[in-house]
Amino acid sequence: FTPIGSDGLIGGLLILEGLKTTLLVTFAATLFGSILGVAATLMKMSGKWYLKWPADLYVGVIRGTPVVIQLVILYFIILASLDVDKVSAAIIAFSINSGAYISEIIRAGIQAVDKGQAEAARSLGLSAAQTMTTVIMPQAVRKILPALGNEFIVLLKETAVIGFIGGVDLMRAGEIIRSRTFEDVAPLLTCAAIYLVLTYTFTFLLTRFEKRLKQSD
Ligand code: ARG
Repeated sequence: FTPIGSDGLIGGLLILEGLKTTLLVTFAATLFGSILGVAATLMKMSGKWYLKWPADLYVGVIRGTPVVIQLVILYFIILASLDVDKVSAAIIAFSINSGAYISEIIRAGIQAVDKGQAEAARSLGLSAAQTMTTVIMPQAVRKILPALGNEFIVLLKETAVIGFIGGVDLMRAGEIIRSRTFEDVAPLLTCAAIYLVLTYTFTFLLTRFEKRLKQSD
């Protein structure tokens, strides 16, 4: 490993490298997690026990255990022996984790739509599938999208445990610099400040987006 010493440039590059990993894992996990979340929701709502049961188990186990244990188990017991690199392993673990939370977000969004909407649609002759796609979902999306944005911000912070499998995210970059320079204050406060700027920026964008959604209501 490159010794850092007093060379701030190398430290800065390491932080940038870590930031790249943090953002990559966060974006990828939100995307793949959304796909998994939709799949789990569909399975739960299918009305078939053999689809609902595995989906319930998935959501229950994932939400019932810490994400850091899921990450470590997935990497060291399964993925490391398959030669999967650490960043991909983190993306897989956080996608699986997020999928469980997102399926609950989607379920809550659908349930928030007034029952009368579905009843009215069905009594006008729409099929169950048509009711879902043309009446329920367009309204549920207004609840789901802001919550998805929130999930993104949770993930941004939660990926700080990637160091547990030896991956170098923003947090771990700060820790490496700290251990090489014997300097605690600068690396830690720098990391915290970068997280804060990121969450503030994304929260700001989300709030604006939410206002737009409300206007189009
Ligand atoms: N800190 C919690 C845990 O360790 C939350 C995990 C991730 N949360 C999320 N919405 N994806 O289980």
